[in-house]
Amino acid sequence: MPNQSDQTQHETIGRVVDGSLTRGMEIKLESSISIEDINNGTYVVIQGKHNRFVAMVTDLTLGTSDQNLKFNLPDMSDPLIREIVKGSLTYNSLSVRPGKVLPAVRGDHSDTTEARTIPEFFSPVFRASQNDMESIFGKEDENNFFIGHPLDMDTKICVDPRQLIKRSCGVFGRSGTGKTFLARLLMIGVLQHTEAVSLIFDMHNEYGESGQDNDRGGAVSGLKTLFPGQVSIFTLDENSSKLRKARYDEVVRIGYSDIEPEDIESLTQTLNLSDVAASIPFTLKTTLGDNWFKQLVETDGQEALNKLASEVQVQPQAMRALRNRLLRLTRFDFLDENPQYNSLNRLLDKLKDGMHVVLEFGRHGNDLTAYILVANLLTRRLHNKYRELTEESDAERGTGPKPLVICIEEAHRFLAPGIASQTIFGQIAREDRKFNITLMVIDQRPSGIDSEIMSQIATRISCLLNDERDVDAVLSGSPNSRELKSVLSRLNAKQEALFFGDAIPMPILIRTRPYGDNEHYQDLTSPSWKTGGQNTDSDKDSRRDLDALFGNS
Ligand SMILES: Nc1ncnc2c1ncn2[C@@H]1O[C@H](COP(=O)(O)OP(=O)(O)OP(=O)(O)O)[C@@H](O)[C@H]1O
Ligand SMILES: [Mg+2]
Repeated sequence: MPNQSDQTQHETIGRVVDGSLTRGMEIKLESSISIEDINNGTYVVIQGKHNRFVAMVTDLTLGTSDQNLKFNLPDMSDPLIREIVKGSLTYNSLSVRPGKVLPAVRGDHSDTTEARTIPEFFSPVFRASQNDMESIFGKEDENNFFIGHPLDMDTKICVDPRQLIKRSCGVFGRSGTGKTFLARLLMIGVLQHTEAVSLIFDMHNEYGESGQDNDRGGAVSGLKTLFPGQVSIFTLDENSSKLRKARYDEVVRIGYSDIEPEDIESLTQTLNLSDVAASIPFTLKTTLGDNWFKQLVETDGQEALNKLASEVQVQPQAMRALRNRLLRLTRFDFLDENPQYNSLNRLLDKLKDGMHVVLEFGRHGNDLTAYILVANLLTRRLHNKYRELTEESDAERGTGPKPLVICIEEAHRFLAPGIASQTIFGQIAREDRKFNITLMVIDQRPSGIDSEIMSQIATRISCLLNDERDVDAVLSGSPNSRELKSVLSRLNAKQEALFFGDAIPMPILIRTRPYGDNEHYQDLTSPSWKTGGQNTDSDKDSRRDLDALFGNS
């Protein structure tokens, strides 16, 4: 799509005819502009007397000054009558929501400010130019990561990944809308532009070596393939990695003694445990210590179990039920009675070295019990370690451990009302970066996330959602939720997202940056700000010409 040429940018497309600071403005379109050329979610600039306001189109309306027109329609087959009626009795209008005030001089890149006033009556309205968009969202450079384009422009919309991970963020959308592709891109932004490290719980093996491209078929490169020196892959399922011919750096082994009562509590739903059964591990641990899990699963036979139950003073029936369910866990080959090494320490060492870790679940990703167990168990231990490191460094007035971003798919399984107050993920979201950890949650059912946790998700990126409850959940707490709802509910089913919240100056509708072929990878691994402009569009054109000339593929 071409950039808005200077001429179209300077063409007045309408004028302010109504509005208020709280409701937004109404713009009457010039008769020369077809309403079909304006999309919901597009950006416009209103030139007030002293200020240039940037605003997002949030609704489009056909209006008439004669209410009887629709009942007494003149003969519209006559072009002359049609033109007269159109020009005198009808008009098209846009509802827009001013968000920012641009610097007074066009092209000046000083800071934009919040819109605290509104433009005067009849102020002219223009399409936003590339310069205007850059003034608001920044240019692709060492601070800003290019994430996508506005709907009807080729301008690059950028986000500062340091702002993104300052607090927790979320990527939402129904299945197949591009959440994983977006999250992968955002993680690349974090990897390239911040000091932070990340841990990705890669349920479906899409982030490490390669991922699936459902539309074009075949595979797309993962983070390790693009950034081998900065990414380490841990696998829970060595056989699956070998079958997929996927590299890995470490095989994760979790000892029986690593399992904590809280880990079992987080499996209450998936293992279908009664509340009484779910509370027994706490009693067992107090009495038996770290070996409680091993002792319980190895206690066989009714008599022995009854004896253990009376020793620790719990209901024998509930304990039998608990043991039966926990036996399922012993079938996971990543659980080991006596592992030869401590995977958590190896994971911590990698993070300390500044590596980003992708934890692939292999076939275990299809088993929700394994996913919830491992994600909770590792995150709780990491959190403890981070707390220690932060407290130590506070005592020495240091800066603490490297910020850590934990990325989880199917987030509502960890953050649902009722469990969010107990799970470590709920705690991290509520702590709001106290120990240098934030979350990137990915979910297709945001209405399943506890509303208090949702309010901690400071930046939200949402692809299309079908269910109205999900739309409401994603927009909850946002100042312009009514207008944004109209934009969000009209997204295309793929590769489009509404981006809003702390890390982005104004809500913006984007076409997500494309990902999947060599040119895209090169733009990511050697962006033009790194190569000193060696990767610009014209540079790429000449490289293509040279390749064609010398027959390079
Ligand atoms: N930025 C992009 N560039 C290229 N293709 C994309 C992009 N975003 C999405 N797609 C296409 O859409 C498909 C679905 O995207 P993705 O796997 O990210 O969806 P999802 O929302 O994570 O789905 P699920 O809920 O099933 O996990 C991809 O396989 C790919 O073909
Ligand atoms: Mg996905």
